[in-house]
Amino acid sequence: MRLGDVVLLKTIHKGKMREFIATVSDEKFHNDFGIIELGKLLEKEAGDTVHSHMGQEFVIQKPRMPDFFRHAKRTGAPIMPKDVGMILAYTGLNKEDTALDAGTGSGILAMYLGSIAKRVLSYEIREDFAAVAQENVKRAGLENVEVRCGNIVDKIIDLDEKFDVVTLDTIDAKDVIPNVKNVLKNGGFLATYSPFFEQTKDIRTSINKAGFMEVTTIECMERSISFTDRGTRPATARVGHTGFITIARV
Ligand SMILES: C[S@@+](CC[C@H](N)C(=O)[O-])C[C@H]1O[C@@H](n2cnc3c(N)ncnc32)[C@H](O)[C@@H]1O
Repeated sequence: MRLGDVVLLKTIHKGKMREFIATVSDEKFHNDFGIIELGKLLEKEAGDTVHSHMGQEFVIQKPRMPDFFRHAKRTGAPIMPKDVGMILAYTGLNKEDTALDAGTGSGILAMYLGSIAKRVLSYEIREDFAAVAQENVKRAGLENVEVRCGNIVDKIIDLDEKFDVVTLDTIDAKDVIPNVKNVLKNGGFLATYSPFFEQTKDIRTSINKAGFMEVTTIECMERSISFTDRGTRPATARVGHTGFITIARV
């Protein structure tokens, strides 16, 4: 491990896994199970173990995007992984692509996009939210994700760059859509995420006026399966409604 590397530290306590996220440095990391000298990680690699001063053993792992999703600092409600999956699958985002995203919020969607695409530019209207998202992006080591503070409704008009994918998760997406075609490459995709039917209807109206093709609105339901001694069935507690995803193409 090198200075500045971000690591997951996983331990088992009373039969349950507990995990912490930390950065390799010369500092001490205090947690429920004692103190870990983070400098010790310099001699380690992923898969090795490290012990706290109380003798608790932790396995070291390199975090991946689902880990950054769980550990990112939250501002607005982040998009859920199930919905990220739909956006990635239906836009076909790949490593040659550039993506424009707004609003950044906690930066979850921008980071997922950045873990795949060549470059992501994300706009967030609130300065404090943009600062948190920049911190999250930095911790995830995503140098290809740029978070700018600004109102996407205005900023999209001044952009002189074209993107393969545009993602909109803002309440005013309908006001951004009239200018999306100007920044989308031919064959590129727009993906919007909206929690309410009314907002989604406005988005569809705006998309139709702007003359997109191949328009579809979907909702993804996630159901985990519970395995107990009594039997196997869908879990009774579940992720409820999150949002509707509308995909459109130029
Ligand atoms: C639901 S959150 C986005 C969550 C984000 N997709 C994520 O995964 O973390 C919506 C964000 O859009 C921002 N926003 C609202 N209107 C905006 C605009 N016109 N331009 C840029 N950001 C905007 C809000 O401040 C908020 O942070």
